[in-house]
Amino acid sequence: MRSLIDILELSTTELDELISTAYDIIENPQKYAHKCEGKKLATLFFEPSTRTRLSFEAAMYELGGNVLGFSEAQSSSASKGESVADTAKVISCYADIIAMRHPKEGAPLVASMNASVPVINAGDGGHNHPTQTLADLLTIHREKGHFDNLTVGFCGDLKFGRTVHSLIAALSRYSGVKFVLISPTELKLPDYVKENLKNDGIEFTETGDLEKAMPGLDILYMTRVQRERFFNEEDYLRLKDSYILTPEKLNGAKADMSILHPLPRVNEISVAIDNDPRACYFKQVLNGKYMRMALILKLLEVQ
Ligand code: CP
Repeated sequence: MRSLIDILELSTTELDELISTAYDIIENPQKYAHKCEGKKLATLFFEPSTRTRLSFEAAMYELGGNVLGFSEAQSSSASKGESVADTAKVISCYADIIAMRHPKEGAPLVASMNASVPVINAGDGGHNHPTQTLADLLTIHREKGHFDNLTVGFCGDLKFGRTVHSLIAALSRYSGVKFVLISPTELKLPDYVKENLKNDGIEFTETGDLEKAMPGLDILYMTRVQRERFFNEEDYLRLKDSYILTPEKLNGAKADMSILHPLPRVNEISVAIDNDPRACYFKQVLNGKYMRMALILKLLEVQ
């Protein structure tokens, strides 16, 4: 039995296989419509979500399976003090696989150590979000056809943005990938992530200037400033609009640059960009469902 807590638990060969399954699902959805009949997915969301929870649920339904779960901690017995470990043991009696989101870093790992079914980390605090990375990777693959030799800019809240941490880890394994880290000083990428890049010999630069960085980018990954992780509202208000991508700011960008964002968007990408052919953030949403379907099949060992 295998869980997915960190994206690096999947080898690049396994990532390729998941991407390949996702392409097959896109082309032949009927082939997969009954693969998970009789199986149940539990979505345990202790933190708000639109995309991740509902795409997991849509994924399981499209595989012919069923779904149970909760969407807020207050409606579960966590509100009465039940531990994550006990919750995982209990839900293992009801479901074949668990997707868990939790505000505390490491909670899905604790769940996986106590569950008797696979556990998928659906986002833990400011730490990791491996299934968003699967969505991001399929999007990049569908847009660019490869991962090697891409220059990827990450812009916004690189400190608390868990999707950034997971995607950097995944892309670091491909050759010639370079990162441009664009953020205010207060929201820089955590040192431990930068240490990993240095140890792996991955080229990266840090800057506060999005427009200067723009011409060199193949991918621009915009992020929301994560209000829920700030210790005080004053800092959030000061930093929240540090970067707002507008059509004018794209003047210096490559004609085939892809703009990604894990969503939800607040203010950081103008809606005027939504119809630009480079905007990929709604494609990411759909790709997330296909990759979650592929992942559920893999972890349930369904052929
Ligand atoms: N991208 C993402 O995790 O969105 P949700 O918070 O809506 O699940």
